[in-house]
Amino acid sequence: ISDLAQVAYVRQKEQLGLGHAVLMAKDLIGHEPFAVILPDDVCVGVRPVIGQLIHAYHQTHASVVAVMEVPHDETSRYGVIASEPSEDPLDHGRLHKVTRLVEKPDPDDAPSDLAIIGRYVLTPKIFDKLEQTQRGAGGEIQLTDAIQALMEEQAVFAYEFEGVRYDAGTTMGWLEASVELALLRPDLGEAFRAYLRGLQL
Ligand code: G1P
Repeated sequence: ISDLAQVAYVRQKEQLGLGHAVLMAKDLIGHEPFAVILPDDVCVGVRPVIGQLIHAYHQTHASVVAVMEVPHDETSRYGVIASEPSEDPLDHGRLHKVTRLVEKPDPDDAPSDLAIIGRYVLTPKIFDKLEQTQRGAGGEIQLTDAIQALMEEQAVFAYEFEGVRYDAGTTMGWLEASVELALLRPDLGEAFRAYLRGLQL
């Protein structure tokens, strides 16, 4: 990996939320658009999900968040968007223009079943908004709230990505990702399949 990219890191000394964590990278990023990847969302697609968002960014020149449909009673685990279709016929209905974002709404208040998954391409204007964002859901400084504020100045889009997502932030999701991705690996898949078949289930 060290041959593929230059790696730098900053520490978030207090755990004040995702928005605060992103704000810690302000000086490192400067005035460029940038990607955010939450590694507990494991996404697997023919095209990498962040690549799909970068493609949408090049179409829109605006911030883009990854979304997927989730069961309505699970909306309180996610940021949820309200949106209208984008006007671009080439996006196969996957691109939406965001009209509102809510962090972890009760299902009764959720504006849709389209949940934000941990992949974002953001414009650097988000840092101004993060600096003004007060604590929100769970007492944390929420990236979702800063993106809602960003919409006062810039359009924001959501992209229904192609691919599978595992929630590795839950033990079950982490196990599913480990087993399914191991089975797909050319160097491990066959031996791991034989091992699973041998288990007394
Ligand atoms: C974060 C975001 C949330 C998003 C989720 C995706 O929440 O705040 O908007 O839907 O990631 O995994 P967290 O899972 O950190 O509570």
